[in-house]
Amino acid sequence: MDKHRTIIEPFKIKVVEPLTLLTRAEREPILKAAGYNLFLVAAKDVTFDFLTDSGTTAMSANQWGAMMVADESYAGSRSFEKFQTVVQKLTGYSFVIPTHQGRAAERLICEALLKPGMKVPSNNHFDTTRANIEFVGAEAVDLVIEEGRNPRSNHPFKGNIDLERLRTFCREHRAQIPFGMITITNNTGGGQPVSLENIRAASAIYREYGIPFIIDACRFAENSYFIKLREPAQATRSVREITHEVFSLADGCMMSAKKDGLVNIGGFIALNDSTWIETLRSLLILTEGFPTYGGLAARDLEALAVGLEEVLDERYLEYRLAVSRYLAERMNALGIPTVQPPGGHAVYIDAREFLPHIAPADLPGQSLACELYLSEGIRSCEIGSGMFGKRNPDGSLQPAQMELVRLAFPRRVYTQSHFDYIVEGLADLVKGKSKLRGYRITYDPPFLRHFTARYEPLG
Ligand code: F0G
Repeated sequence: MDKHRTIIEPFKIKVVEPLTLLTRAEREPILKAAGYNLFLVAAKDVTFDFLTDSGTTAMSANQWGAMMVADESYAGSRSFEKFQTVVQKLTGYSFVIPTHQGRAAERLICEALLKPGMKVPSNNHFDTTRANIEFVGAEAVDLVIEEGRNPRSNHPFKGNIDLERLRTFCREHRAQIPFGMITITNNTGGGQPVSLENIRAASAIYREYGIPFIIDACRFAENSYFIKLREPAQATRSVREITHEVFSLADGCMMSAKKDGLVNIGGFIALNDSTWIETLRSLLILTEGFPTYGGLAARDLEALAVGLEEVLDERYLEYRLAVSRYLAERMNALGIPTVQPPGGHAVYIDAREFLPHIAPADLPGQSLACELYLSEGIRSCEIGSGMFGKRNPDGSLQPAQMELVRLAFPRRVYTQSHFDYIVEGLADLVKGKSKLRGYRITYDPPFLRHFTARYEPLG
């Protein structure tokens, strides 16, 4: 038995970047000039950038080293061969197409396989997946289990797909379903995992109805480690074995490698079906590039080939899942409510519960996100009425279902002392929370409000 209780960062640091540390007084005019929209704050003015875990990974010495030996030939590069072998070994799928990121893979699949009126079931589709499905006139259908929609539920696999509803859906709409999906982990539901048992059962349903099954595999390694930790029958298997079984249950995957690929850019599609792959390759050449680079430099493929191996290191995954758990537990102890249990890549604060004195239409999530920046230099992302609130006919804001603030953690970037420092500051934020005010929107763009909207504090 290891006598240590602390889960340490399982790496030492060779390259460092200075961290900006501004005072509240310095941050106030910066936030005001950005229209109180954290997307419009320059990264140099942020201390802890928790906007996303996507493309923000710190790469390893081995990844940087591999980049130097990349073969940048237009066609048939050695780096593609290396990348292809790693993906084939990892997934078991025969055909591999690189893309510049996840949504490019989604666009290719949607353009090649979907027609208006078709339907694609999943646990929850991520925003870009949904947008790509809807863009070609098809319907993205979310079938996550009931517990997955309840922020209080402590279900260990809140990303599971509802098997009863999936079966009924497949029976009723078989002719309109060209493929079915599952997203691991379920980002939309808070980075919640899907159990191996659930993936097996969903796979059996898809197979029973002859529906090809494609996994959105962005965070496959985090999902596999959750399976190892939380699914008793899987505790003694390696993450690599679990991962192999997960992929073997589907017919292919699409992946944003900016997450568990441990790289800053990249993605891919891997499939068993050779007829689909021909169509996809033709579309790829049209917009992404030749099939052996797909919009990436060969050095990106090299870094990804190494990243996809490194991410299966269980010491890394133990540390990775400890990050959000560590912060969530300390926030909860201070009285900051978070979606339970914490997800793999992010913590979601329930701003509606934390700031009950601010009406949902007055954007409690935005208020908290601004305060997290002013007091701690944290950049988070409001996922509530600011992002999703629709306008009523009289112009007032119709509140969203939940008022969440997402803190998503870059991989291998921040250390435990960074989190301890944040927690010290949060204690003051909790004490002064009744003084926080609501916000109103002063500039409301026609779509995707959260990227460019401007706000101001009320009163
Ligand atoms: N699928 C999932 C589950 C995702 O989380 C993302 C991206 C994508 C697909 C699209 O991949 O960004 O490489 O085009 N999620 C990021 C996030 C943007 O912040 O959660 P991409």
